[in-house]
Amino acid sequence: MSSSLPALPGAERVVALGRATLILGNGLAVLPALAGRFHALISDPPYGIDYDPSSPGGSKWDVDHIVGDNRPFDPCPLLGWVEPVVLFGANNFASKLPDSRAWFVWDKRPGMRSMCFSDCELAWSSIDGPARMIRYPWSGANRGPERGEHWHPTQKPIEVMRWIIETVTAPGDIVLDPYMGSGTTGVAALQCGRDFIGIEIQERWFRAAETRIRRELDQGRLPL
Ligand SMILES: C[S@@+](CC[C@H](N)C(=O)[O-])C[C@H]1O[C@@H](n2cnc3c(N)ncnc32)[C@H](O)[C@@H]1O
Repeated sequence: MSSSLPALPGAERVVALGRATLILGNGLAVLPALAGRFHALISDPPYGIDYDPSSPGGSKWDVDHIVGDNRPFDPCPLLGWVEPVVLFGANNFASKLPDSRAWFVWDKRPGMRSMCFSDCELAWSSIDGPARMIRYPWSGANRGPERGEHWHPTQKPIEVMRWIIETVTAPGDIVLDPYMGSGTTGVAALQCGRDFIGIEIQERWFRAAETRIRRELDQGRLPL
């Protein structure tokens, strides 16, 4: 796909991997050059909550804060390029988004009781439809079938991203994630038979995404 992309201001590196194109750079700077080249924007941006991945109760991460997480997140630059848009963490910046009844709820409790962390995560969507919920345990030793695959401090489950992608896009669509992290949206998109463009500003997470997507392609089980 990268051969068909125009020059990308703000991109430090572009890697084409099968139906995926991974871009190292600033998502907001690159986005305008991608206008008209994707069918859905599905992302898990910094929430503006100053989360410290190395804090007690956080995890084993030797990293500083997520880039951009130390200031309020403004979703407005992500809107108006395409329909649909889905944004995780949007309960932290809902006042800056249009009203929507079609929120996606991911219940991540291992049981039915509340945990010390939030019980669920919420994704705002621009689609018109009912609110939807998925149950997928994701805490400590109960990280569902993806246990052990810990690539990023705020990693989402592939299964949850597949659920959203299958709900809001069609086979063959191109999914853009301008805050790619370790590429979970990309792995899920490829598994669902979608193309993927991901942008990540930090080399460490860009490399993780590259490794994960390359492995996915090497397994040879993706739909054509
Ligand atoms: C919440 S994390 C995404 C994690 C991802 N969902 C996963 O499963 O790995 C947000 C990511 O956005 C990246 N980021 C922050 N500002 C960015 C920007 N302007 N352009 C591209 N990436 C950015 C951060 O480095 C971080 O990896």
